[in-house]
Amino acid sequence: MKHFLDIHTTDPSELRSIIDTGRAIKDARAGRPKGTPDDDQPLAGHMVALIFEKPSTRTRVSFDVGVRQMGGQTMLLSGADMQLGHGETIADTARVLSRYVDLIMIRTFEEATLLEMAEHATVPVINGLTNRTHPCQIMADIMTFEEHSGPIKGRKVVWSGDGNNVFASFAHAAKQFDFELVFTGPETLQPEAALNGLYTTERDPNKAVQGADLVVTDTWVSMHDPQSARERRHNQLRGYQVNSALMSKAKPDALFMHCLPAHRDDEATSEVMDGPHSVIFDEAENRLHAQKAVMRWCLGK
Ligand code: CP
Ligand code: NVA
Repeated sequence: MKHFLDIHTTDPSELRSIIDTGRAIKDARAGRPKGTPDDDQPLAGHMVALIFEKPSTRTRVSFDVGVRQMGGQTMLLSGADMQLGHGETIADTARVLSRYVDLIMIRTFEEATLLEMAEHATVPVINGLTNRTHPCQIMADIMTFEEHSGPIKGRKVVWSGDGNNVFASFAHAAKQFDFELVFTGPETLQPEAALNGLYTTERDPNKAVQGADLVVTDTWVSMHDPQSARERRHNQLRGYQVNSALMSKAKPDALFMHCLPAHRDDEATSEVMDGPHSVIFDEAENRLHAQKAVMRWCLGK
């Protein structure tokens, strides 16, 4: 069973082949209206369940459009509307869904939910974000980096802000794709200890971004963080905002990424988000292409 659960649990050569497939899928559709099918229809006759226990714009739409372009059909399921949200076990949900659908994508809170779903499903399961990781996002980000700046191997990536779930998948990717990753953020929001050894820390953001090929940030308050922590987090993270002054200390051709949704002028200024370094909308677009490649890989298509 080829689940796509995390970057660090997928072989580097398989990750590379998924990225290259995503690129080929994108090239093959260049200039084509979005509602037209792909030439090959690898998901023809396939049904895909898309389960969301948290809000989503990009993940939801890119998976839905991707499945349809590949000839399959989707079923969008809100966790709260399913029996899952009313006491049915994850294991039973996985067993039942596997009798109806060919592939399950789930966005959830606890990583344990994803892992239990994968353990009991008899069809592939894809991680659409948990409190701990967001691997599909990072596949799109690697694809985007390489599109603009060439191979990511040996390059310097700097994360400024909260050591959150998106950072964690970047840390996993640093090992699998062999790039340097620097975390700059407050000690109180340091990434979890399980990621130690995959990145280095530099508390001073101005020093951290020197020589950077890519500067990345994300929201200061994630969906699983209590809203009551908002003010405290803003106070802790204010010094790590990505603005033009900070970007000017990276390499002249450095890229800026943000997985979105953004809180403009908090974690990054609009000047940077809409400026010459920014590739944020290419990142969003590449979710579609990279995830099509992930789904093909899962289904052996
Ligand atoms: N980047 C991302 O996963 O966006 P959504 O929350 O809109 O899916
Ligand atoms: N860190 C953010 C990413 C959203 C795509 C969150 O988990 O809310």
